[in-house]
Amino acid sequence: MRATIAVLPGDGIGVDVTAEAVKILETVASIFDHQFTFSTALIGGVAIDETGTALPPETLALCEQSDAVLLGAVGGPKWDDPRAAVRPEQGLLGLRKGLDLFANLRPVKVYDCLVGASTLKPEVVRGVDLVVVRELTGGLYFGQPSRRFDGPHGREAVDTMAYSEQEVRRVVEVAFELARGRRKKVTSVDKQNVLATSRLWREVATEVAARYPDVETEHMLVDTCAMQLVRRPSQFDVLVTENTFGDILTDEASVLAGSMGMLPSASLGTGRRGLYEPIHGSAPRHAGKNVANPIAAILSAAMLLRHSLGLTAEAEAVERAVQRTLDDGFRTYDIHAEGTTLVGTREMGDLIATRITRS
Ligand code: IPM
Ligand code: MG
Repeated sequence: MRATIAVLPGDGIGVDVTAEAVKILETVASIFDHQFTFSTALIGGVAIDETGTALPPETLALCEQSDAVLLGAVGGPKWDDPRAAVRPEQGLLGLRKGLDLFANLRPVKVYDCLVGASTLKPEVVRGVDLVVVRELTGGLYFGQPSRRFDGPHGREAVDTMAYSEQEVRRVVEVAFELARGRRKKVTSVDKQNVLATSRLWREVATEVAARYPDVETEHMLVDTCAMQLVRRPSQFDVLVTENTFGDILTDEASVLAGSMGMLPSASLGTGRRGLYEPIHGSAPRHAGKNVANPIAAILSAAMLLRHSLGLTAEAEAVERAVQRTLDDGFRTYDIHAEGTTLVGTREMGDLIATRITRS
């Protein structure tokens, strides 16, 4: 098949890991006989430096015209001034909103050979295979008003958490559809004992659940969920939650997998077009040093093949190659342990690429 893929490396290690993800997609294209066309564009801090804005209009236009978007990471100390009017993160948020990608899938799968890489006990993390569906275009990230001002008692600031029933329904539906293809359990996470948005969330989630009698549903408060995620994570199959809760819970969940460098994500809307990015940040300290773990980016490329291009066998081939590379004992610094072989970003990409086979 033919497909156009927009590549937005962004800042820091985003550049290093995206190069490996593209390498993997090129390998897939040659082995499975596809034609992928890659176009690179600016986002984040580099875009601010070159154009004055974190999401140049031509970047958004390119993404709108592409079948899928592969993104690295945005941000860094250079652009971290809290008083700055333009911030790298605006690029990412603008892209998610601009493409209306309201459902962010963040799978957390613990590889058997990496149970020792987690700071949690092996018996707690072994066998964990869950997906967090994070609402991505609403809540505190986009609610208005959001501003800082001088009040009668000094400096004040306000952010707004707002949700409509339609915004809740569409993302909860994604979670239930996903659960049908998995272990058929959805945990809807909210803070309904305190927040009005959460009471609406639970009401709408309950209505959606009624249409999926084959799927087991539970509701959990977000503080309980944070605790259960490290206490007994294997109880979860699909979790669905609002934007900020999902942001926090997925960083927590990455500890199960041993490293942020292992976790991919897919951001989806109503069509097939999606945005694929590792959940980790730009890790400026490691940028350009050939040390970053490219697996999260590579697994994001696998999600791209599956969700935007419908290439299931190809996605599985990439996931199998990752598994084999880890089974063969190769590790980047973040998951390195005694008795395993330490490799750099490019070497890890190469090792995975050579393990991609048709079956
Ligand atoms: C993430 C990141 C982003 C978010 C930042 C970089 C804006 O933490 O993708 O989880 O908060 O959504
Ligand atoms: Mg985050």
